[in-house]
Amino acid sequence: MSAEAAYLHGTSPAEQGRLSLLNRLMNEAAMRELAIRPGERIVDFGSGLGQLSLDMARAAGVAVVGIERSQEQLARAERDPLLDLRRGDVTDPPLREREWGSFDLAHARFVLEHVLDPLTVVRHMVRAVRPGGRVVLQDDDHDVFRCWPEPAGFSALWRAFQRSYDRLGCDPFIGRRLVSLLHDAGAAPVRSTWIYFGSCAAEPKWPGFVENIHSQLAGAREAMAGGGLLGAAEIDAALAAFRDWARRPEAAIWYAVCWAEGVRR
Ligand SMILES: C[S@@+](CC[C@H](N)C(=O)[O-])C[C@H]1O[C@@H](n2cnc3c(N)ncnc32)[C@H](O)[C@@H]1O
Repeated sequence: MSAEAAYLHGTSPAEQGRLSLLNRLMNEAAMRELAIRPGERIVDFGSGLGQLSLDMARAAGVAVVGIERSQEQLARAERDPLLDLRRGDVTDPPLREREWGSFDLAHARFVLEHVLDPLTVVRHMVRAVRPGGRVVLQDDDHDVFRCWPEPAGFSALWRAFQRSYDRLGCDPFIGRRLVSLLHDAGAAPVRSTWIYFGSCAAEPKWPGFVENIHSQLAGAREAMAGGGLLGAAEIDAALAAFRDWARRPEAAIWYAVCWAEGVRR
């Protein structure tokens, strides 16, 4: 059995649909921040279904190496000559001897929150790039999520969701640590920012945001109820209240994804 944490969200078709939706909602902003340069050699740690890896590969015009542990994700991932997807663990990346120290950019999004020892992963990322190469980390800090006017039962549901991460030995607040992880891994941090990930009911993208939050919470139902973090009936009631709330014209979600960039010395 792997010493790594179980993946909280799982890899069911419904969850894969959520991940694809998330990519559609986020990738334009992520690509703007990434500012990929033509010819950049990129390795994507925890590439999932490969959507952002492929966007990066198209911008660079050369193949991106994606590392993903789950066979189910790889089976449903994008297929493209510009994608070199490899099965493996980000704590022991399947890179060839000559590839270490050769990449221009190592990237990870929504992965460090799912591993037991994020510093080890970031150390591998730093080692994967050449001196002067970039390391970009994007991850959640669930504490900054707000929705208003608050739907009934939502605070308790969100707290239980956060606790389902630490029950697995993972950090739901890893976003705030990204710069210090780069520093501790030996890279020079050069930039930090947020990617805004929110919306209000009037916007065309609103249903996508509501669906993403709802299915993320629904997908963690067993982890929350089974782990004794919140009763199943309370979870279901709060999820139903969230759906009703989303139809209100004054409803809004406020969230941002943490972003940090460092350079190998
Ligand atoms: C939330 S998804 C993000 C995927 C992709 N980075 C994106 O932004 O679309 C996290 C992915 O990390 C993978 N993962 C989790 N732990 C891993 C590990 N230790 N090694 C490799 N992949 C891992 C999961 O299987 C999942 O596909």
